[in-house]
Amino acid sequence: MVFIRSTGGLNVIPLARLALTRMEFRGRDCSGLAWLEGGEVKIVKDSCPIGELYTKYSLGDRSAISVLGHTRYSTHGKADARNAHPHADCEKTVVVVGDGAVRNYEELYTELVEKGHKLTSKSDFELLPHLIEDFAKKGFSHTRAFTEAIAKLKGFVTAIAFFKDGSAIAYTSHQPIYVGLSRDLLAIASTLSSLHGMVTEYSEISGGEMVVVTSEGNIVFADLNGRTLSRQFLNYHLDESLVETSGFPHHMLREIYEIPYSILRTASALQAKYLELASKMIRRSNRVFVTANGTSLHAGMVFSYYLSELAGIVPTVVSASEFLLYYLDGVSVGDSVIAISQSGETSEVVRSAYEARLRGATVIGVTNNINSRLTRFSNIYLPIAAGPELAVPATKTFTSTLVLLYTLAKSVATIVNTPISNTLSEIWHEFESVHTVLIENLNKVSVEAEEASKRLTKCSSGYVVSRGIAYPLALEGALKIKEAAYVHAEGIEGGELRHGPIAILDENVFVVFIEPLEPVAAEDMLVVVEEVLEYGSPAVLLSHTTKSERSKLTEIRVPSMKRHFMPIAIAVALQLLAYHLAKRRGINVDKPRRLTKVVKM
Ligand code: AGP
Repeated sequence: MVFIRSTGGLNVIPLARLALTRMEFRGRDCSGLAWLEGGEVKIVKDSCPIGELYTKYSLGDRSAISVLGHTRYSTHGKADARNAHPHADCEKTVVVVGDGAVRNYEELYTELVEKGHKLTSKSDFELLPHLIEDFAKKGFSHTRAFTEAIAKLKGFVTAIAFFKDGSAIAYTSHQPIYVGLSRDLLAIASTLSSLHGMVTEYSEISGGEMVVVTSEGNIVFADLNGRTLSRQFLNYHLDESLVETSGFPHHMLREIYEIPYSILRTASALQAKYLELASKMIRRSNRVFVTANGTSLHAGMVFSYYLSELAGIVPTVVSASEFLLYYLDGVSVGDSVIAISQSGETSEVVRSAYEARLRGATVIGVTNNINSRLTRFSNIYLPIAAGPELAVPATKTFTSTLVLLYTLAKSVATIVNTPISNTLSEIWHEFESVHTVLIENLNKVSVEAEEASKRLTKCSSGYVVSRGIAYPLALEGALKIKEAAYVHAEGIEGGELRHGPIAILDENVFVVFIEPLEPVAAEDMLVVVEEVLEYGSPAVLLSHTTKSERSKLTEIRVPSMKRHFMPIAIAVALQLLAYHLAKRRGINVDKPRRLTKVVKM
């Protein structure tokens, strides 16, 4: 989302197009612009990327000195013109764009409709202009009406409101947004790099803060209680080559840093009715199969721990390739097949879903691409909703898949006694705290992972070892190291190390230990760590409890959280380790050799 205002009479519509194009990694299902023309608010929006919108509606012929814009990934309401932002109130006196998710949408929607507001979409952000209108009718100033309206929204909200008098207000509950300035321009945007070339200095507003741009063009930073905040503007410098990756050297790193936000997006995109349906199907099934490839398969393995521990159901987790070869023939009516694919297009997963459905099984598709073949062949689909993932190594889609699968397992476990809406709101609060812990620790983990990667640089091979619920993470860590850093790595169950793998350990073979989440297994693992150190293997420990004092062991401290969410924190640490190892080896992780994002053959 972006708001741009020229203080020197410049046409800012082309600048909004440029800024939104640079944000398309966040979503491009829909786009829209709003500006003032002859004292009236004009809105143009549609279910297409901003470039197409520009051509389709001849926006090159329009001129405005203030513009509000948005590019969207649909989570609440499908990708169509009505759900595209900006949204206006009944009188078109205020227009709003927003990112995030409003948890109490249904309740507020009903309240507004009962008061006579005309809401025309299924977008949760359409609530905001109508709420502002409601408070404005009470005689409140724009700022007061805005803050009162924001206070009514529960969830994860970043929004900009643009008023007919030319003023604007932006607010964020979680992720930072940026205010940029140049001699004749003022801009507010969700990413700083989208303003590249337009602003010379910038400031950031973070969770709980807002910025008000008055109709005269003055800027005031404040909190929601109206207390003024002082903010410094810093000089803006960004290498041209970093613009496309939003200031990060690679998409992979940017996507890892998006994880705290994408997990909330996933948690908020889950709709009770589909979750309930999927949970009931799983409960009633004779047999439950989970099928996927690569990283999605590892997420499926974590799910089997969740489902058996929480709901007492032990699913069969199998690679889609093996599922087609050996399991499919036995699948029949009364079975459920949970097919996981971030792309929704991986051919063996899609075929598994299609063939299983032909045999009468219920197929539950889990995907980040709701327009994929997997959704078409599924009886029910659950959206991962992590936002577009550009880097080939899957990062934020893995952690978001874990969020979704945990929620599904929890729903299967609780559906008999607890309304699904209660389970969902409890889970939302839990993921909010995961979000906060990750934000607080990401930089630290990245620094430690970078340091640890030094220890692995000389090795041409290694193991990633763990046990219990973290065992699939060992497999995932090894996969990330192979595909990102081109170093051979194998995921090993800790108990298996002595059954063969230990034979090749020496100073050329690294071992990355992930401290198990089960205390008994963690104790056993420490004995194995000692042994490995004796063989001279460079060792790294991802720990979450005790700090080891061993000088030969490099530690990455994984932030502690509820045991079921630890796979998310561990995944982030492993992804950062793989990323830094790749960087150290001079590999461009965004263009890995021989790999494609979607394996269609
Ligand atoms: C993940 O980092 C890999 N790029 C790859 O293993 C991937 O997970 C696999 O190809 C499955 O993809 P999907 O989730 O899109 O089906």
